[in-house]
Amino acid sequence: MESFPRKELVSVIQSGMTGSRSAFALAVGRFATKLKHTDLPLAQEIAQFLSAENVMRGAGDFVPAPVDADSRMELVETIFPVVVPKRPVFNGTVQDVLDDVLKEWRSLDVLIQEGLAPARMLLFCGQPGVGKTLAAYWLAQELKLPLLTLNLATVMSSFLGKTGNNVRAVFDHAMSRPCVLLLDEFDAIAKRRDDDTDVGELKRLVNVLLQALDDWPANALLIAATNHGELLDPAVWRRFDHVIQFEPPSAELIETYLADLPMEEKVRKNLAALLHGESFSGIGQLVNSARKTALLEKADLVPTLVKNAVRLRMSKGNMAKPQEGEMLLMYLAGHSRREIATSMGKTHPTVGSVIKRYLGE
Ligand SMILES: Nc1ncnc2c1ncn2[C@@H]1O[C@H](COP(=O)(O)OP(=O)(O)OP(=O)(O)O)[C@@H](O)[C@H]1O
Ligand SMILES: [Mg+2]
Repeated sequence: MESFPRKELVSVIQSGMTGSRSAFALAVGRFATKLKHTDLPLAQEIAQFLSAENVMRGAGDFVPAPVDADSRMELVETIFPVVVPKRPVFNGTVQDVLDDVLKEWRSLDVLIQEGLAPARMLLFCGQPGVGKTLAAYWLAQELKLPLLTLNLATVMSSFLGKTGNNVRAVFDHAMSRPCVLLLDEFDAIAKRRDDDTDVGELKRLVNVLLQALDDWPANALLIAATNHGELLDPAVWRRFDHVIQFEPPSAELIETYLADLPMEEKVRKNLAALLHGESFSGIGQLVNSARKTALLEKADLVPTLVKNAVRLRMSKGNMAKPQEGEMLLMYLAGHSRREIATSMGKTHPTVGSVIKRYLGE
């Protein structure tokens, strides 16, 4: 026979007196779930108050956006509504985790009733330009929440001794409202405590951070992004619900990214293979600059894009078959297939097939 959930009731009272609104709601959810075994009508009566709406109303006291005490600069930038014009492309593993997070947030009502919190803290790791910041924007857009970005330069540029206060102020502000808080370049504030440099100061800072992560409510999503996951303090690492590793895109993913550009499938596949090894941000820049050239010089988009891509790969010395690159550049500069064949010592059909593969002509 189950007994009255005394422990859970004490937690309810404790979090009601000291914690956030969402911590209180979660404690009530846990209490009501246990109480079902001994007093179902009372449990149901209590559960009526547990709704996502009530939790998302945020804390009672709104904390205004903080500024640096010395420079008076804002410590956090707020965007609302967040609009991501093109749906980002992620590999299956990353997309699955992001979808799970969204599903949990959209099922907040069901979770709270059982005293369960949705994923509250995510850590995004990966090289520059793979979509970490973009993924944070995308989540904020999908959840229809404001995106708050910690202004790292301001937070850290103040006298070192103030950094901890600044970080704490940003957290207090973010915790007081439903939002997505993005901590970009997270390694800068979450370095290992045993790092030799600035030991005392960094230790204090990491402790501020750990405390804030422990207090983090269930009605806000914290996303930390870093290029250097390995630099993070293991104690920081452990607190995240999900650590997501963003990889540079595969050729297939690049092909998906290029899907809205008008070109033959074969050409798209070949272009994606050519660009394999570049980051999404590099590819995005390439596409944008080709779009502008095509518009301003009334050129065709695909040859312009291919030319830029070949040039980029050749200049980095990582074009798999540099001779093909030279042939293409000659062709795009106006030389005939025959001229190219003669100059490169290749047969006419060989040149023709390379051009067809890259340009579909
Ligand atoms: N997965 C993706 N899908 C579509 N576009 C992408 C993707 N990743 C990056 N991009 C493009 O590259 C740009 C830069 O990406 P983003 O800022 O998200 O990179 P990051 O991983 O945060 O890099 P950094 O470590 O330098 O901050 C985006 O604005 C977008 O145009
Ligand atoms: Mg970024």
